[in-house]
Amino acid sequence: MRTKIMETVTLNNGTKMPLVGFGVFEIKKSECKQVVLNALKAGYRLIDTAQAYDNEEEVGMALQETDVPREDIFLTTKVWVTEHSYNKARASILESMKKLKTNYLDLVLIHQPLGDYYSAYHAMEDLYKEGKIKAIGISNFSAERMADITAFNEIKPVINQVETHLFFQQNFLHQWMNKIGIQHEAWGPLSQRRIVEIMKNHDVKEIADKHHKTPVQIALRFNIQRGIVVIPKSMKLERMKENIDIFDFALTEEEMNTIRKLDENKSMWAGYDNPEIVQMAMS
Ligand SMILES: NC(=O)c1ccc[n+]([C@@H]2O[C@H](COP(=O)([O-])OP(=O)(O)OC[C@H]3O[C@@H](n4cnc5c(N)ncnc54)[C@H](OP(=O)(O)O)[C@@H]3O)[C@@H](O)[C@H]2O)c1
Repeated sequence: MRTKIMETVTLNNGTKMPLVGFGVFEIKKSECKQVVLNALKAGYRLIDTAQAYDNEEEVGMALQETDVPREDIFLTTKVWVTEHSYNKARASILESMKKLKTNYLDLVLIHQPLGDYYSAYHAMEDLYKEGKIKAIGISNFSAERMADITAFNEIKPVINQVETHLFFQQNFLHQWMNKIGIQHEAWGPLSQRRIVEIMKNHDVKEIADKHHKTPVQIALRFNIQRGIVVIPKSMKLERMKENIDIFDFALTEEEMNTIRKLDENKSMWAGYDNPEIVQMAMS
């Protein structure tokens, strides 16, 4: 039997990052501080926020109030598309640090591959060289965009955070991340509202029963066993604990293959081959 110790991955710049983190997308300002304090109490040491989530200040309040030392927490934020120039991105990251009440960030991502994200990336490279950011990465980049930003910049992104769950396993992109040496991080690892389909799925339930786990834990375990960092979000302490309690068992290859068959290879949202997504991001 394995122990319940949080496992980590080592990024391409040598930085270590927990395999399971806590996402704060759509958590209201009024609830965010307490939710993050609960997540830290439940054992999470990776917190994933973004400028666009409008809750960096509240995450910062939790970081200030908790007795978990700052150096034990891996803190991620993301630069939003309206800040995609060198000067704006730099200023916005320094502003994020102020809101998060920290003098360094563990990871900063380009949130969306839109507009002049190359200039924003150059600002991130400089802040990385100055030591204000420990790692820089990207989010929602297709394999082709990811290969491009890697080829034409000095510093390779450490991570690509993309939608990944049982119904959208991202095999093609995953292979390319492994090839280029970029860590795969899953957003929406519980497939957001489609989580009910995971909970009701006969095959997932059968595997869960065998391991005395829940279908949700199987869904998360599947991806961490693929070496993917997952950042589930929950407002409820019991669920937070459930979602992190996935280090004391392992899925067999046969079980992994059963779950692989659930892949529909289709995003839950429009994706970048739809121009409406650009208009949505800018609205
Ligand atoms: N880079 C990007 O563009 C991007 C986009 C989306 C998300 N993200 C990041 O990824 C994180 C996670 O994604 P997400 O928040 O969209 O979705 P998610 O984690 O896939 O799903 C969250 C949903 O699952 C429910 N849930 C969580 N644990 C549960 C459990 N054990 N049993 C039953 N229901 C459970 C939550 O409800 P309750 O809260 O009521 O428990 C919530 O409705 C975000 O918070 C954010 O940090 C990034």
